Amino acid sequence: MDKIRGVVLAGGLGNRLLPVTKVTNKHLLPVYDRPMIFYPIQTLINAGIEEILLVTGGQHAGDFLQLLGNGTELGIRKLQYTYQEGEGGIADALSLAEDFADGGKICVILGDNIIQRNIRGAARAYAEQSDGAKILLKEVPDPERFGVAETDGDRVANIVEKPANPASSLAVIGIYFYDSVVFDIIRPLKPSQRGELEITDVNNAYLKKGNLTFDVLDGWWTDAGTFESLHRASNLVHDGGANLVD
Ligand code: G1P
Repeated sequence: MDKIRGVVLAGGLGNRLLPVTKVTNKHLLPVYDRPMIFYPIQTLINAGIEEILLVTGGQHAGDFLQLLGNGTELGIRKLQYTYQEGEGGIADALSLAEDFADGGKICVILGDNIIQRNIRGAARAYAEQSDGAKILLKEVPDPERFGVAETDGDRVANIVEKPANPASSLAVIGIYFYDSVVFDIIRPLKPSQRGELEITDVNNAYLKKGNLTFDVLDGWWTDAGTFESLHRASNLVHDGGANLVD
């Protein structure tokens, strides 16, 4: 079984949470009783991932060091940090993880994605997958806010970023498994209309190559990057806890 390293993406300016994010990074805001960033880190730890790279950016990056230190308090065996200049998007932030990945497999998680249960099954399946990528899907009532996948049996047929008329209600959640080819895929990418290198373009590149698999996530999933979803995330964690392991 291949080892998987973890990459947490916690950059961005958090514009959708202004004015709160004027004085702090979005991923340090509380979700019920813990800073947001604790949840995606716990998701990786629960999947047996021991080495984590945190990619952050903006004016408050130093606060992560103060909060997380060398990671031992959270149970991280090896924690590394890097800094994203500017606002280049998720795929741009991920490109900074190339040396950390060291040619191996990675699990990438967006710093504002919180799940009720765990991704142990998906991580195990991906560790056995010979190459390519794996994405996780979840049925949602508001797919137009996300990357949306159309499936055809056990394969993904198409992914569209924030479609006005979604072809399904299956959102692509912000947890992705990639092999080292991901960095070759990112290099030639061009910014989208919102000026960012899109992770959906990365996933579609794997899809074209024919080695993109998917799982449907068990339990609830939420992002927390808007006031509405941040509030919802706090309520969900308060009502039943997050990152549950059986
Ligand atoms: C990003 C991705 C989108 C994905 C979402 C999950 O959106 O671009 O495909 O569904 O994260 O949280 P963003 O939060 O950058 O708008």
